[in-house]
Amino acid sequence: MVAREPSAEKASAIAKTAAPALLRWYDANRRHLPWRSDGTTKPDPYRVWLSEIMLQQTTVRTVIPYYGAFTTRFPTLKHLAEAPLESVLQSWAGLGYYSRGRNLHACAIRVLNDFGGVFSADEAVLRTLPGIGPYTAAAIAAIAFNQRAIVIDGNVERVLSRLFCVEEPLPKAKPLFHTLADTITPSKRPGDFAQAMMDLGATICTPRSPSCDLCPLASLCTARQAGTMERYPLKAPKAKQVNRFGAAFLATRPDGAVLLRTRPEKGLLGGMTEVPSTDFTLESKPADHARSAPLAANWQKHPVPVEHVFTHFRLALTVYAASVPLETAAPPGMRWTERAHLQHEALPTLFRKVLAHQR
Ligand code: ADE
Repeated sequence: MVAREPSAEKASAIAKTAAPALLRWYDANRRHLPWRSDGTTKPDPYRVWLSEIMLQQTTVRTVIPYYGAFTTRFPTLKHLAEAPLESVLQSWAGLGYYSRGRNLHACAIRVLNDFGGVFSADEAVLRTLPGIGPYTAAAIAAIAFNQRAIVIDGNVERVLSRLFCVEEPLPKAKPLFHTLADTITPSKRPGDFAQAMMDLGATICTPRSPSCDLCPLASLCTARQAGTMERYPLKAPKAKQVNRFGAAFLATRPDGAVLLRTRPEKGLLGGMTEVPSTDFTLESKPADHARSAPLAANWQKHPVPVEHVFTHFRLALTVYAASVPLETAAPPGMRWTERAHLQHEALPTLFRKVLAHQR
């Protein structure tokens, strides 16, 4: 049976009672995350902003160690704004989506130069800053400044879709989710409410086998009453993911140094370090990889390509390896980096995989 949307009376009951029930649950069950204030101190907007940027498209579990290392290295917005971009990208390497790391740095500089180092509490002003879209602006306004903002991420969409049995598929349903979230967002403790919705989605109202018995909203939940929780949220069919192909050339000297270069500023992994590579193309058998090699050597093709998943495509990268003499000069725009110094390079996960690829 497909559940119906709640009646007007039921929707009004949800609007009245969801927030108090959820906040009570949050007070007892919140996740203790390093960027959250413990309730006795005011949240630090710099840390809230930083955590929200890191959490864009990355899981809480992955972010925690990066957040710790990052805030040790850049304890304040001023430290971050005044650091060279290279060192910021180095600390970012591994979090993926390097444009986010670059925007993070650009945003810190803007806030320092144009706003005296202080984040605005105004969602509209926040949205004008690099890397801050509607979700992040709302999250910062709510969590750092306790403004009544409507904060909707994937977890929140799932909770709402079940609470109200939203029959419209994503992404078309986004405006409806905004309207529904607006009906339940309280003006008291909106920051805690936003984080409570996220925690509920992450720990109880999970995509599969939700723990409805533990849910503070179970008695209000329209999908729970119909037993159709796992049907939601409805999603429009995804476009098929395309595959791309390329080759990387891993040249190693007898002292262990490897040949690297910096990728162009614009485009995928812009400004990051790479093992010299071809473009990533749709063609699985590009004419002749050997002709793209950065220098003449006895290149050995690794039998198994490195695989990596980006947001919009899957990449199979063929690795060619060669041992070259110590005196081999780095071709123009390239450099030899000793193994011990690799940690100081802004190396994305893809190229860490290439470096770790053993025969
Ligand atoms: N995901 C994004 N922001 C979050 C936050 N503040 N707490 C938990 N999960 C999140």
